[in-house]
Amino acid sequence: MSPCHTLLALLTLTACSKGAAPSKAPVMPTLPGMAAVAPPTITGNDPRAALFLTKGCPTCHSVTAVGIKSSTDVGPDLSIAYTDVRSRFGTSLEEFLPNPTGTMQMVLGQLIKLSPAERDSVIHMLKQISEQQDHHEQDHH
Ligand code: HEC
Repeated sequence: MSPCHTLLALLTLTACSKGAAPSKAPVMPTLPGMAAVAPPTITGNDPRAALFLTKGCPTCHSVTAVGIKSSTDVGPDLSIAYTDVRSRFGTSLEEFLPNPTGTMQMVLGQLIKLSPAERDSVIHMLKQISEQQDHHEQDHH
């Protein structure tokens, strides 16, 4: 086979293996039993959105404070997570993320690996977002 034919064969192969997938959108992680999901809708260009998007959190979570709208909203909006984790799980986000319970135990154990640095960034951003919201509320009082 000439190099040209090899290339052609390769291209055809890639095209076929894509099957019915609509586009080259990144494949978002899903839990077993969960159908493939549409990518999230992004508005604005908040740099804090990048890490959530790379790690695939928007498969299940909106983070509206940074312009991410999940197509599924399987989990709660992470914009409120910093305080919500305390009321729902009775622990701080700093303690929850390295040692989660419920769905996130499965997600962070099997689907998505967060390095300690990535975990710190997530905590830092969600804390920052929560503080911004607090200030916002105080403005109205
Ligand atoms: C496959 C779906 C899925 C993915 C992907 C996912 N989560 Fe979750 N997450 C959930 C669900 C569902 C909950 C609700 C809690 C429960 O049911 O245990 C949750 C809860 C949380 C909570 C607690 C929120 C609260 O308000 O109490 C945090 C924090 C969180 N997720 C962070 C993340 C981060 C960060 C990522 C990406 C690294 C991520 N999640 C990816 C499904 C997911």
